[in-house]
Amino acid sequence: MQTNDIDIELRYLLCKYGKEQIYVLTDENTKNHCLPLLLNSIQIDDKHIMVLPSGEEHKNLQTTCLIWDFLQTGGATRKSLLVCLGGGVITDMGGFAASTFKRGINYVNIPTTLLSAVDAATGGKTGIDYNGLKNQIGLFSMPVKTIIYTPFFQTLPHEQFLSGWAEMLKHALIASPLELINILAFNLDEIDYSRLAELVNRSNTIKEYIVEQDPEEKGLRKTLNFGHTIGHALEEYSLYKPDKQPMLHGYAVMYGMVAELYISVEKLGFPQKTLTDITHLMIENYGKPICSCKDYDKLIELMRHDKKNTSADCISFTLLKNVGNARIDQIVKEQEIKEALDFLFNL
Ligand SMILES: NC(=O)c1ccc[n+]([C@@H]2O[C@H](COP(=O)([O-])OP(=O)(O)OC[C@H]3O[C@@H](n4cnc5c(N)ncnc54)[C@H](O)[C@@H]3O)[C@@H](O)[C@H]2O)c1
Ligand SMILES: [Zn+2]
Repeated sequence: MQTNDIDIELRYLLCKYGKEQIYVLTDENTKNHCLPLLLNSIQIDDKHIMVLPSGEEHKNLQTTCLIWDFLQTGGATRKSLLVCLGGGVITDMGGFAASTFKRGINYVNIPTTLLSAVDAATGGKTGIDYNGLKNQIGLFSMPVKTIIYTPFFQTLPHEQFLSGWAEMLKHALIASPLELINILAFNLDEIDYSRLAELVNRSNTIKEYIVEQDPEEKGLRKTLNFGHTIGHALEEYSLYKPDKQPMLHGYAVMYGMVAELYISVEKLGFPQKTLTDITHLMIENYGKPICSCKDYDKLIELMRHDKKNTSADCISFTLLKNVGNARIDQIVKEQEIKEALDFLFNL
């Protein structure tokens, strides 16, 4: 839920759980930018606050063990609450650590990046990366609450803002032409935060509706994977490259969406004009991804590893027949994927 008054939400948690049962997980940035506001409402003991280094490279089992240690040595019980104050790394890993500690304690997400507000912190997917592959270990486990407070996004670096924006574009593309018009009309060079709050609400409503219908991703929820089959491969591949400059999740999804829209045009007759509009939005704001055909085999291998695939010799995608008309379980041949990658990398 989105709130204008985070103080009320926090005081409610304080009443319900008691100060001694509340534990807070932050990272080095949210400790500076967001934690002070939280401490205005609930005075938490320092030993109930954990500060992790920021970054995807820390979303792993070693860091999860540190969170379990923090809870255990701090005296957490099954009645305790873990408050995850941060971006998707903190909400994914904090949710996972809480849901496995003592067979599961309650947790609340307070997403502080746009990406976590519209995606990672809602829907109950928790987890960590393992052996260089993303989100390999985890479980479905709903937070007792997700508190969205838009003013937190004002300190986000612009590329982090854009990373979340890509997921909002995805929700609009799978939802309806009206949602897409709203997203395309938003001025990314001069952010209007009150308008943003409205769009975040709409984006959440879209995701919530889909997750409610299909919490365990047996059907409809797979529509949310649009852009992610190629996107995840690009994101993971960026970790193997010599410069080791990891690609932001939303950037990878943006590039993945353009490639998967190309496949959608070819296979399902998705409108070419919309592909052109989205491609322009990508080039103007996200730039072009740099890869060559030498990278294709590795990228396709990563797509095969993707947990969404059900059999080893085919790659399954969510594609769009039109805006607001997603088709799940679309089998795409390697050659068709390579053509989409050619399109993306030769723009
Ligand atoms: N569970 C899901 O359904 C789901 C969905 C999408 C993404 N994810 C996961 O989310 C992760 C990416 O999330 P993310 O982009 O939020 O990454 P992140 O948590 O690494 O945050 C990005 C950066 O922004 C900083 N930051 C956070 N809030 C800030 C603020 N208010 N002001 C200034 N800086 C701030 C963080 O410290 C970090 O450096 C990935 O691990 C991805 O797999 C999960
Ligand atoms: Zn995503």
